[in-house]
Amino acid sequence: MEHRLYSSVKVGPYQLSHRVVLAPLTRLRSAQPSDAASDMMAVHYGQRASQGGLLIAEGTAVSQGGRSYLGAPAIYTEEQVTGWKKVTEAVHAKGGRIFVQLFHGGRQSHVFMTGGAAPVAPSVVPQFQSVALTDEGFVPVSPHRALAIDEIAAIVEDFRHAAKMALKAGFDGVELHGANGYLPDQFLQDGSNQRTDAYGGPVENRARFMLELVDALTSVWGAERVAVRISPSGEWGDISDSNPDATFGYLAAKLDAYGLAYLHIIEPRIKGDDTLHEGQADVAATTLRKVYKGTIIAAGGFTRESAQDIVARGDADLVAFGRHFSSNPDLPERLKRNLPLNHYRRDAFWGGDESGYNDFATYEEQAKAA
Ligand SMILES: Cc1cc2nc3c(=O)[nH]c(=O)nc-3n(C[C@H](O)[C@H](O)[C@H](O)COP(=O)(O)O)c2cc1C
Repeated sequence: MEHRLYSSVKVGPYQLSHRVVLAPLTRLRSAQPSDAASDMMAVHYGQRASQGGLLIAEGTAVSQGGRSYLGAPAIYTEEQVTGWKKVTEAVHAKGGRIFVQLFHGGRQSHVFMTGGAAPVAPSVVPQFQSVALTDEGFVPVSPHRALAIDEIAAIVEDFRHAAKMALKAGFDGVELHGANGYLPDQFLQDGSNQRTDAYGGPVENRARFMLELVDALTSVWGAERVAVRISPSGEWGDISDSNPDATFGYLAAKLDAYGLAYLHIIEPRIKGDDTLHEGQADVAATTLRKVYKGTIIAAGGFTRESAQDIVARGDADLVAFGRHFSSNPDLPERLKRNLPLNHYRRDAFWGGDESGYNDFATYEEQAKAA
C-alpha cells in the first residue's frame, strides 16, 4: 500500500498530490542591487516544482529595515514583484504551488543592510553570536534599538504591503517567518523581549505582535492562504525563552482559531539553519498537535523513514525538507520510489552561481546519462 506521505492532502484551498514540501532556503542569489528574484532563482524553483507539490520560497524581506543578508530577495518594490512573477510562473507551469516566506530580521541585521538605520528589536538585549551578511561577508550584527510602541504599527503595515505585493507576484499564499530568532520571534520569546508595555511581559502580550502580523496577512489573503513558521527550540540569533512550552502552546492555540493554511514547526533537532542534533525525536509537532488541530508541516532533520513515520502517526500532515531538496530537485519522487539521494553542497548554500544550485539532475536524467 502506498505510504501516506505520498498521498493527497488539502492545504488551505489547494488539493496537493503529495506531502513532501520544499522548506524555505535562503540561497542569496537575488539580483543586486534590486533584491529582485533572479532568473537563476526561477530555474531553481521551477526544477523543484511537481504536479500538486508545495514549495515555500526563501525568507523574503518586507522592507529595507527588515533586510539581514546581502543577496536575499525582498518583496516591497514593483521590480521585486516582476522578479518573483518569473518564479511563480515557472512553478505553476509544472502544476506546483508556491508560498513565499515573509521576513523581517529585526535585531539580526547590520546598518549596511538597513540603509544606515540601527536594526530594530522589541528591547535592547546584547547578542554575542548573531551575524548579518554584508559585502564584507558574515559580520557581527550592528547594535540595535528598541522600537517605540507607536512605531510597531508601521512594521505591521510593511507586512501588509508585502502581502499585497506577493498577491500581485502570483504566489499561492504567504508564510510568516515567525521562527529562527527574527523580529516576530524576538517579540514572542522573553529572552529578547523585556518590554513592559502591551507588547511585553505575559505571553498574551509577547504574542501580540505575531498575531497582529497574522491579522494583517489574513486581511489581504484570507486565513486559508496564510501560514506561520515557528521554531520552539531554536537557538539561532541568541533567542531563548524561560518557558517555551507555555509560550508556544499559547501561540499555537491562538493560531488554531484562525483556520490558517498550516502551522510550520521546526523540530528541536535543528537549532539554527542546519546545525543538527542527532538522535533528538520529533517532539515539537507531537506536543503542539495537542493544541493545534489544523494542518501541520514538520521540518528539521527528517529522513525518508522519519517523515513517513510522523505523517503515519498523524503528528504532522506534511514534512518539509531543506538540504535534501537543495540537491534533489525530484525529491518527492525519489522518496516515494526509495531512490538514492544526491548529497547537498554546503559550500554552495549561501551565495554563488548555478553551481551547487541548479546543476543537480533528476534521477531519470542521471539514469539516462549512466
Ligand atoms: C542554506 C539554508 C538556508 C535556510 N534558509 C531559511 C529561510 O530562509 N527561512 C527559514 O525559515 N529557514 C531557513 N533554513 C532552515 C530550513 O528551512 C530547515 O528548517 C533546515 O534546513 C532543517 O531542515 P533539513 O534538515 O531538511 O535541511 C535554512 C537552512 C539552510 C540549510
